[in-house]
Amino acid sequence: ANSLATVTITGAGGQIGYALLFRIASGQLLGPDTAVRLRLLEIPQGLRSAEGAALELQDSAFPLLQSVDVTDDAAGAFDGANVGLLVGSRPRGPGMERGDLLAANGAIFAPQGAAINAGAADDIRIVVVGNPANTNAFIASAHAPDVPRERFTALTRLDHNRALGQLSEALHAPVSQLRDVSIWGNHSATQFPDIAHATAGGRPVVELLEEQLGADAAREWIRDVFIPRVARRGAEIIEVRGSSSVASAASATIDHVRDWVSGTTHGWTSAALPSDGSYGVPDGLVSSFPVQSIDGQWRIVQGLELGAFARERIDASVAELIEEREAVKALGLLG
Ligand code: NAI
Repeated sequence: ANSLATVTITGAGGQIGYALLFRIASGQLLGPDTAVRLRLLEIPQGLRSAEGAALELQDSAFPLLQSVDVTDDAAGAFDGANVGLLVGSRPRGPGMERGDLLAANGAIFAPQGAAINAGAADDIRIVVVGNPANTNAFIASAHAPDVPRERFTALTRLDHNRALGQLSEALHAPVSQLRDVSIWGNHSATQFPDIAHATAGGRPVVELLEEQLGADAAREWIRDVFIPRVARRGAEIIEVRGSSSVASAASATIDHVRDWVSGTTHGWTSAALPSDGSYGVPDGLVSSFPVQSIDGQWRIVQGLELGAFARERIDASVAELIEEREAVKALGLLG
């Protein structure tokens, strides 16, 4: 290996953590030339599980794995970190009010943001996986004033990959031939999976669907089948599998960071990042966009034309993000 990177995973003792660790240690995150130091951050109740995973990492004898530390101290975990995968969070439980949800996550992501601000490496890249992911990234960034805000991203790559999977099935086309699908807005049921610019084997996906189904049925399929299925796929997985999306979430997390570091080569992908005002999304709001990764930085794809339907759907999801931001402000979680 030519270089060494420190990768910090929060919630490393949980399910997604378990699915992530072995892929990172095998070199799938940063490539075969980069050795990794893993830092596993947990809360006290999760430490034993993370320690168990560390034993198994040792038993896997990964040549690229230089060290594994398990800790419940955020400052130590993020000291010198180059990549932070923020997986541990407090997801919404049954009957939980939004205020309680945001307050519980503020108590997690505010101190983690401060620890990143204090000690992370200059090239730190953060992706928040733990829900509500966009707003958790917004909170962490607010507590890291010395870290450029664009280093704080949230995961919508799973939604993006789910959209590719659905299109592949509907068009009988391999995923490798699909390009330029977009996820806009919040990683929630309001997200907008957009295929207006997508192509399969170089042909517009919408045209192919119209050929296959007829114009009206294609429009209905997109609106009534495709979009809700992608947006509610998490619930479908829980129903079928009896447990939430874990391996696919870990896989999308790997994809997100790998592309961020190494670049996108096959059209664009989707990621949630602080808006620069593009497409009328308020500046600073962590929202999903079509993005390319160039020279180690995410760039929002510019100049896409949005139809009335797309505009309405994006505005609705952005309105939800604004509400979350206002609630977080009102709770005093932005410091
Ligand atoms: P899990 O419950 O198995 O694991 C979460 C772990 O986080 C637990 O071990 C817990 O002890 C730990 N944790 C809680 N607070 C912590 C803190 N302050 N610091 C460090 N660790 C902490 O959950 P799972 O299945 O691994 O999912 C994790 C999160 O990912 C959930 O919030 C889930 O909603 C979210 N998720 C997001 C997706 C996305 O596409 N953005 C997709 C799938 C899941």
